[in-house]
Amino acid sequence: MAADLVTDTLKRPVRDLRISVTDRCNFRCPYCMPKEVFGAGYQFLRDPQLMSTDEIVRIAGAFVELGVEKIRLTGGEPLLRADLPELVRRLKVELGVKDVAITTNGWLLERFAPALKEAGLDRLNVSVDSLDAVKAGQMNGQGLPPDRVLRAIDAAAAQGFPVKINMVVQRGVNDHEIETVAEYFRERSMVLRFIEFMDVGNTNQWAGEKVVPAAEIVERIGRRWPIEAVGPAYRGEVASRYRYADGAGEIGIIASITEPFCRDCHRARLSADGKLYTCLFTALGWDVLGCVRSGADDAELRAYLSRVWAGRRDRYSDERAAILASGVARSKAEMSYLGG
Ligand SMILES: C[S@@+](CC[C@H](N)C(=O)[O-])C[C@H]1O[C@@H](n2cnc3c(N)ncnc32)[C@H](O)[C@@H]1O
Ligand code: SF4
Repeated sequence: MAADLVTDTLKRPVRDLRISVTDRCNFRCPYCMPKEVFGAGYQFLRDPQLMSTDEIVRIAGAFVELGVEKIRLTGGEPLLRADLPELVRRLKVELGVKDVAITTNGWLLERFAPALKEAGLDRLNVSVDSLDAVKAGQMNGQGLPPDRVLRAIDAAAAQGFPVKINMVVQRGVNDHEIETVAEYFRERSMVLRFIEFMDVGNTNQWAGEKVVPAAEIVERIGRRWPIEAVGPAYRGEVASRYRYADGAGEIGIIASITEPFCRDCHRARLSADGKLYTCLFTALGWDVLGCVRSGADDAELRAYLSRVWAGRRDRYSDERAAILASGVARSKAEMSYLGG
């Protein structure tokens, strides 16, 4: 039970915490970690800079006291962290977090799924941008075909995990696969979430023309299979949901570009080195890990987080058009570092 609920300047509570457990990844998706930037010589975080499992649990515990009910472990690629099942177990058992999920590229999932199940993980999101071997290889930047990830998805579902799929759609890259990927996951009754290509970070060559608007995706899917809108499952859900009229499950669209949802954003992000970001599109992180390592007790840690959240006024996606039109360059943290 939260002891000390906090809201920001726009009356938004903090309900949802995303923790980047590593800034490293075994993929190099050009829209997130382009090879040319994240290649040899790129300075990833090193051990003392990363949060330890104890530190993550401690900070997560303080967030739970402030109202957080859902925690998602992400990165970078969270399954590169060998102690991930232990972290999940502690979040569930020690903190009693209602909903613990991970977002993964799926490459190591088949190996980890039994340990994650045993640890009490509630849900999984797996990223699949293409079913075509060549295209998938381009989109993961490593030339890897999708088969192993698709097998892992089936294995995780067989373990009893609810699995959702994330597909980042880019015009001229994989938008021709919208219906193909939808059909594949419809057959498995898995929820597929289309994500508009976002202008996160500074290195992914984002341009407005590469965004396929949510309305176009909905129209295309609806032309192939009748769909109907479904209300959000909870306040602050970022995906707009649609169900197939024939009962074959659901799709979601995350339309951060064309239909921003800042007014209902209840999400805090903790980077792999323990900085708190109150928006995906900011360069400013608050040094929570520094606060922990300087000896703050639980009340001081809670007070620090509370102060930062209470002062939060971010609504970048609402303001994007005006910011881009102003021509003033704005630096942002990379998604792999602060947690997608
Ligand atoms: C940063 S990744 C981290 C977790 C894991 N490595 C994965 O890929 O699922 C989290 C999610 O962010 C999405 N993502 C990354 N860069 C993006 C961008 N520029 N626009 C939209 N979604 C993006 C990924 O496709 C993935 O679904
Ligand atoms: S989207 Fe995920 S898998 Fe792709 S480079 Fe980013 S962190 Fe890695």
